[in-house]
Parts: sequence; structure tokens; C-alpha cells
Amino acid sequence: MITRIWIVLFVLFAAYSVAVYIYSDGQHRESLPSASVNRGWQAWQKNNCHTCHQLYGLGGYMGPDLTNAASDPRKGREYMRAFIKYGTNSMPSFQLSDKEINDILSFLSWVDKSGKNIVSPANVHWTGNYLIN
Ligand code: HEC
Repeated sequence: MITRIWIVLFVLFAAYSVAVYIYSDGQHRESLPSASVNRGWQAWQKNNCHTCHQLYGLGGYMGPDLTNAASDPRKGREYMRAFIKYGTNSMPSFQLSDKEINDILSFLSWVDKSGKNIVSPANVHWTGNYLIN
């Protein structure tokens, strides 16, 4: 009797494993960062972008949080490219090559897919604390 239960459990386990393998949409397999994402991450660190920008709400507060800027309908890649390429009065221009900028944009798109920043800029106090109701 006990052996039969084990056999049934094993068959169910095997069938489930095959089903998961065949029917998964592959969505979660894409979460491994590509080479471009890794280079972008390094460029992000080398240029100290985090001293002024936050990812997932962490970082400096001079510039805006960039966690979900890539999928923000008001922003997106080309909008971000213009800031990174030319800078503004308060955001320095780093004189990065187009390749480096593409890598940084890949990195930021990857970050965008991996989490949500739920703190709206209006809720960030000037001291850097969050004001969450
Ligand atoms: C000295 C602080 C500082 C550093 C360092 C810095 N930024 Fe910025 N960044 C800013 C500020 C301030 C703004 C907003 C500029 C404005 O609106 O004029 C900004 C804007 C941006 C924007 C547009 C975001 C938006 O939502 O409008 C992007 C993208 C961006 N920065 C990317 C980067 C990247 C990538 C790096 C590193 C290579 C970087 N920044 C380094 C201060 C900084």
C-alpha cells in the first residue's frame, strides 16, 4: 500500500515537472542579466549615478528615482538618453559613448522589470525619508 502511494506521488511529480517545463511561458527565464546589462551596471557604478538617483527607492535624492523610468509612459528610453547624453543644469553630462549609454539603458530597463518603486516623488521628504501614509 505504502509503495503504491509513493509510486502515485512520483508519477504525479514527474507529470507536473514535464507540464511546467513544456507550458511555462519562459517569462522568468529572461531575468538573467545580459552582457549589456552587466556593462550598464558597471557604468552606473563607475559614474556614481546612485549618488543622485535612487533605484528601488535607495540612493541619493538630488535626481529622480529611476527604477521604473524605462516603462513610464511620460519617459522611456529616448527621453532618458537625452538626459544622459547632454545633461541639464543640475544633471552632469558624463561625455559617455553611445555604447555606454545603450548599456546603461539596458541596465535601467532590466531594473524596471525586476521591481516597482511604490514611493511617489511627492512622498519623499527632503531629508530622504519616506512619508508613507
Ligand atoms: C550630480 C547629481 C547627478 C548625477 C551624478 C547623475 N544625475 Fe541624472 N539627474 C540628476 C538630476 C538633478 C536630474 C533631473 C534633471 C532635470 O530635471 O533637469 C537627473 C535626471 C536624469 C534622468 C532623467 C530622469 C527623469 O525622470 O526625468 C536620467 C535618465 C538620468 N538622470 C540618468 C543618470 C545616469 C545614468 C547617471 C550616471 C551616468 C546620472 N543620471 C548621474 C542628477 C544627477
